[in-house]
Amino acid sequence: MADRPYTLLSCGVSLDGYLDSPGTARLPLSNAADFDRVDAVRAGSDAILVGAATVRNDNPRLLVRSPDRRADRVAQGLPPSPAKVTVTASGRLDACAQFFTAGDSDKLVYCPRGAGGDLRARLDQRATVIDLDAPLLMRELSENLSARGVNRLMVEGGGTLHTQFLTADLADELQLVVAPLFVGDSRARRFALDGRYPWTAERRAELADVRRIGDVVLLRYALSPRYETERLDP
Ligand SMILES: NC(=O)c1ccc[n+]([C@@H]2O[C@H](COP(=O)([O-])OP(=O)(O)OC[C@H]3O[C@@H](n4cnc5c(N)ncnc54)[C@H](OP(=O)(O)O)[C@@H]3O)[C@@H](O)[C@H]2O)c1
Repeated sequence: MADRPYTLLSCGVSLDGYLDSPGTARLPLSNAADFDRVDAVRAGSDAILVGAATVRNDNPRLLVRSPDRRADRVAQGLPPSPAKVTVTASGRLDACAQFFTAGDSDKLVYCPRGAGGDLRARLDQRATVIDLDAPLLMRELSENLSARGVNRLMVEGGGTLHTQFLTADLADELQLVVAPLFVGDSRARRFALDGRYPWTAERRAELADVRRIGDVVLLRYALSPRYETERLDP
């Protein structure tokens, strides 16, 4: 058995490669049909991971929205929505964020040992806080999730997390949606930050599928051999 979950990175970007706008308001990059596709990907996952900045800025619920998909999961003996996972060093997470309050799936917060301040006390049973050696590496987080029974992990951003998974060669699949708009402000967050990526001019990533979804386009990249045998097709 693999020592880490099958890992799918999911992300929407503007035509100039940004994840959001520079302010705190959430930038809607996708459209309704694509949100529904993302909902299906969530429903096929055991856990959804986002960075603490995404929890703070976007306040996402990270639940499966479709009643039919939730019912299908329950019929398979699964919780209605996947476990929610986040990672923080500062511990700046609000116990009232929807990450913690919405739905009754498991919530896991990873933190480097000795960091996070009084996070465990503040979250007070709303989540399981897991300390890992500092610096906290996505490889170790992935292995810890695997040991907890997570076989399929969906990483929903932001760029800090995508960058760590990509540069550590821990991603099996990338689903990148390109929206027909420009952000045009370099203070906004990019999908991929500075780093050494395995895919270069000499080793190009494999484009596995391209799909038009209304006014956005889905680019699907196979980033490891596991894509061939473990991907889920809609
Ligand atoms: N378009 C999309 O598909 C999409 C999806 C998701 C998010 N977003 C956008 O992306 C923006 C956030 O992206 P981001 O790159 O700034 O942040 P992020 O990846 O959401 O979160 C970064 C934070 O996660 C924690 N973290 C990450 N790696 C860590 C590690 N190895 N050890 C300990 N803690 C770690 C730190 O939290 P602490 O600061 O608490 O220490 C860090 O500041 C948001 O504005 C959101 O709107 C867009």
